[in-house]
Amino acid sequence: MAFPPDFLEQLRERVSLVDIVSRHVKLQRRGREYVGLSPFKQERTPSFTVVPEKGFFHCFSSGEHGDVIGFLMRMEGLSFPEAVEKLAQAAGLEVPRESPEAAAQARRRRGLLDAVEAAAAFYERQLRLPAGRRAMDYLRGRGLDDDTIGRFRLGYAPGESGAVAQALKRGGFEAETLLEAGLLRLREGAEAPVASLRNRVVFPITDRRGRPIAFGGRTLGDAQPKYLNTPETPIFRKGEVLYGLAQARDAAWRAKEIVVVEGYMDAIALSQAGFAHTVASLGTAFGENQLRALWRIVDEPVLCFDGDEAGQRAARRAAERALPLLAPGKSLRFARLPDDRDPDDLVRQDGAAALRAVVERAQAPIDLLWSSEAAAVRPDSPDRRARFSGNLLALASGIRDRTVRRYYEAEIRSRLQEQFGVNLRPETGARRPAPPSSAGGGRDRGQARIAGLRERQVQGVLAAAVNHPGLAVEFAREIAELECAASLDRLRQEILRLAAEGEGIDAGVWRTHLETVGLSGAIGGVLCEAVYSLASFARPNAAIAEARKGMEQVFAAYRSAAMEREVAATAETDADSSLERMPALVMEARRSRARSGM
Ligand code: UTP
Ligand code: MN
Repeated sequence: MAFPPDFLEQLRERVSLVDIVSRHVKLQRRGREYVGLSPFKQERTPSFTVVPEKGFFHCFSSGEHGDVIGFLMRMEGLSFPEAVEKLAQAAGLEVPRESPEAAAQARRRRGLLDAVEAAAAFYERQLRLPAGRRAMDYLRGRGLDDDTIGRFRLGYAPGESGAVAQALKRGGFEAETLLEAGLLRLREGAEAPVASLRNRVVFPITDRRGRPIAFGGRTLGDAQPKYLNTPETPIFRKGEVLYGLAQARDAAWRAKEIVVVEGYMDAIALSQAGFAHTVASLGTAFGENQLRALWRIVDEPVLCFDGDEAGQRAARRAAERALPLLAPGKSLRFARLPDDRDPDDLVRQDGAAALRAVVERAQAPIDLLWSSEAAAVRPDSPDRRARFSGNLLALASGIRDRTVRRYYEAEIRSRLQEQFGVNLRPETGARRPAPPSSAGGGRDRGQARIAGLRERQVQGVLAAAVNHPGLAVEFAREIAELECAASLDRLRQEILRLAAEGEGIDAGVWRTHLETVGLSGAIGGVLCEAVYSLASFARPNAAIAEARKGMEQVFAAYRSAAMEREVAATAETDADSSLERMPALVMEARRSRARSGM
């Protein structure tokens, strides 16, 4: 039977990977990792690594890789459900029975996966038949060898619109499944559904585990569109997928580097040229979920965009999108290709070393933003400089992590000083309104920022409160003053209510209560890895002392941010009056605007 994903998530949170592994392997701490002798292979030097932060182990000698469930499966020869049951029992978690609807949905997904897998195998075979000859010549002509073609499971979709349907129906698949999997589509006027990809080279798009979930198809000639993808389906969500991730993951993990390119052919060509740790974003805008998937593997993925104008625009957009998500240790870099070439052109013409050089020169986000903003605004007059600095500071103010944000602001100010000789005072009152007078004020995300707490910290506090109800009681006063997003506020208030009721505190009881009052969604958004990874004190298995310390730190930051703002507001009004001789009236208006939070 299948398990609900949030249950598995919770299970992985609750049990300690290091604990479980330690029962079988003698581990030694090495920085943020643990190492020991491989339990899967005889070895003398330890190559077995556990990364608690990321919740997985990796065995360099055998290539085994997985999470705590996978470890138990391999070590004790258990099936997936058996391993889950065993871990749940050890963690004192009840294994939820799956609802009939969820079971039906899981069956459906499996049916789609099976159909897409069968199609992948069909396309692969076609490539090797006489009908696929042109496609094979095309791929060879682009420099791909047999090994690469096999590793990426490249294929050929024949020209006849009924071919794939016929083959798969013979394999027992229903037309309806093929439609839902995006392999066929309905065409107006046509009697039967037609194949989505016809007479194209086929690139299977896989999930993280290497299972095909969709296809891209390229014309052999100059027909438009050059690439076609099968549509989004229940198993293929574009914004979350990175092409080639399954093939790249091990190498990325080993090299502690991952290169992100735009196209299928770029990813494949780079992989063949020795950059096995390459994935493609598939021409879609590089998104938040993709970045988070990469951060689970490396700290600073390198985005490699084409040298042309479109590539530079894409880089800029990716930087803007990534900025709010940056956290200490989680960033990215931008590599720029020379001239108008794409990564595939570069490695084929100039070799892997040329690409290596490009990756080495990759820029930090601040440098990319600075130069692209300068190119757009051309700060050659005071007016434009003002605009230039305003734009950059506005970008920086969108960074949710307070530490990263302050470093960006400081860096921007020091560069402005250096280049234009202007000393812009930090955090002026007009941009940073005074803290709201009570907890009853407006509660959108902007307000949370104004209160000096980034959203993740607020979520961390609430998560810790749910996981450790005792702390909710202890910090009830602070939680009462917490500014938070509207979506979280009901949860916050319900926590306060439970805390006020005092005794009989049990995390399980609390959760059940919160769920029965309709807060499952809010809880789900808070008790999750996205929050824990930035607020580890909130984890359910964190020691109570650690959780308490984490909460104290958040609230201390909250108080000092409020104080700073008051000081800054006062300092600014003083400075303004002497420097600019601002009329008292304007000053007053400014001050009250600041107070009202406008
Ligand atoms: P490019 O136009 O840069 O193509 O598109 P490319 O990867 O260099 O292709 P080749 O070398 O001519 O084969 C980059 C990516 O954008 C998506 C594809 O994912 C492609 O790999 N794309 C491009 C489409 O989805 N549709 C298109 O028509 C073009
Ligand atoms: Mn290309």
